[in-house]
Amino acid sequence: MKLIVTESYEQSCLKAAEMIGDVIRQNPKAKLGLATGSTPEPIYKNLVKMYEQGGLDFSQVSTVNLDEYWGIDPEHPQSYRYFMNHHLFDHVNIRKEATFVATGKGTPEQAADELEEKVFENGAPAIQLLGIGANGHIAFNEAGPSLRAKSHVETLTESTIQANSRFFDSPEQVPTQAITMGMGDILAAGSIVLVATGASKKEAVQGLLLDDVITTENPSTFLKLHPNTTVIIDRELAQLAGV
Ligand code: PGA
Repeated sequence: MKLIVTESYEQSCLKAAEMIGDVIRQNPKAKLGLATGSTPEPIYKNLVKMYEQGGLDFSQVSTVNLDEYWGIDPEHPQSYRYFMNHHLFDHVNIRKEATFVATGKGTPEQAADELEEKVFENGAPAIQLLGIGANGHIAFNEAGPSLRAKSHVETLTESTIQANSRFFDSPEQVPTQAITMGMGDILAAGSIVLVATGASKKEAVQGLLLDDVITTENPSTFLKLHPNTTVIIDRELAQLAGV
């Protein structure tokens, strides 16, 4: 696993955007695995800027997103489809039909099966962007006694509902289920780039970086199994975590 410590979160996001940009420049038809959450927002801002400055062409790029709440309309401002349109897709020359965020059609199990198919359609993503939860969760793969390899339906833990309630009017409005890629789907990507910032991520990052233990109690530790994972953190978090 490669660790990059930057001077600031801003620098971390710029670095991650450059890595994604490099993948697209190397292969204009690249498939990207994308993530939502507050951490990646500036990464998408940087990608939009690169596009506007003529440095990136998304016309042949395809994407698949890690996860989506179940039971939320794609038009809902807190849906991950809305997030992706708003932060990236609406601002670059990507074909919307080449982008996939799990949808709420049919049963949650059918939605999970469709996501599983999309992860591997025309090959797994060349690069997978990741954030990390305070409990080490990756996408909606929550810390616990076991993890799933494939795309599946996940019941959100109380801590994730609380963490995500900042985006909703109240915790009661946070959906209780989500469709998510499994750990095997994520590990199938050609490369992985994870960005973390903030004191709340200290313990998760310690589990990821300080030893070689793999545990379902910190799902991010499974990234240690991937030969091409890059973790980008800022100096402040690195000092706090003692890495
Ligand atoms: P955050 O979420 O970027 O909003 O902190 C990360 C995550 O929960 O995976």
